[in-house]
Amino acid sequence: MPFAVAPANDLAGRTVLVTGANAGIGYWCAEKLAARGARVLLGCRSAERAAVAVSSIRAHAPRADARVIPLDLGSLPAIAEASARLDERIDIVVCNAGVKSAAREARTADGLDLMIGTNALGHFALLAGIARVLADDARVVAVGSLAHRFARIDPDRLDETWTSTSLRQYGRSKAALMSLAFELDRRWRGTARSALCAHPGYAVDPLTPPREGLAPVSAFARSLAAPTRVLVQGKDAGADPIVHAATATDATGGDYWGPGGLLEFRGLPARVRAADEVRSRDVGTALWTAAETLTGTRFDA
Ligand SMILES: NC(=O)c1ccc[n+]([C@@H]2O[C@H](COP(=O)([O-])OP(=O)(O)OC[C@H]3O[C@@H](n4cnc5c(N)ncnc54)[C@H](OP(=O)(O)O)[C@@H]3O)[C@@H](O)[C@H]2O)c1
Repeated sequence: MPFAVAPANDLAGRTVLVTGANAGIGYWCAEKLAARGARVLLGCRSAERAAVAVSSIRAHAPRADARVIPLDLGSLPAIAEASARLDERIDIVVCNAGVKSAAREARTADGLDLMIGTNALGHFALLAGIARVLADDARVVAVGSLAHRFARIDPDRLDETWTSTSLRQYGRSKAALMSLAFELDRRWRGTARSALCAHPGYAVDPLTPPREGLAPVSAFARSLAAPTRVLVQGKDAGADPIVHAATATDATGGDYWGPGGLLEFRGLPARVRAADEVRSRDVGTALWTAAETLTGTRFDA
């Protein structure tokens, strides 16, 4: 039995697009949302990995309505193609897909810095491309990270080759995504649409319940990792603040949700603090202009 208690069918009639839904936190968002009756669109770049995820979702949420949307966030033409193909109303978008480390010279297919290009600009171009099918009360959730706090965004130098560390550049990419999401929310004020951020804390595969074909972890590695559960959590739990931000009635535009426990590494969803820089209107507007320029995409939100 996948669930001790059947979850409510409260998302019936709602359609959710989850990027990077074939693995990790994105997979768990998709499974949890499908189990609550949502129609789930899995935006994935690998048809094979996406198919494995869909069968696992169906095995654990038998009434799941899940469909794959081919989507490579590291290619602007691929994003445009995926966006053009989407012709159904979308109620919720979870901008989850992410590259967490990269070499300094790593680039997207369009020549953009790989982490900025995929994590922030790819989602910006996707949202611009699908804006026409977003529901009047659509909710967008950007998956941020604790790492955003250790990074500075310089909108004028967004695509410059970085000189620091991969982790700091990852933090910049997450800070940029969060800043764009808060800016989107400001632009949507006065409408029923909203944009929020959420982060999963510190979520690792060895503490995650097994799913056939997804991130296999040996029993030995699981037993070694078990004591770390006091500090960190599985990716199933990491999905919870994101699903909360995407669906809860107490979550509203401009919110930032994360795990409420020690250091925000684990725990139940709670409102958490985002760095002033990602909340800044000045940074958000400058970043929006830079994102339009770098992606060659006009986004009239
Ligand atoms: N795990 C954590 O503790 C943690 C903490 C803070 C934030 N986060 C954020 O949470 C999100 C998920 O993390 P995770 O730990 O679940 O990572 P993960 O297991 O590595 O999964 C990342 C997902 O993103 C997809 N992806 C990467 N590049 C893509 C592209 N160009 N186009 C489409 N999909 C792409 C991957 O697809 P492929 O299988 O095709 O590579 C995969 O489905 C990320 O945004 C990450 O920054 C994670």
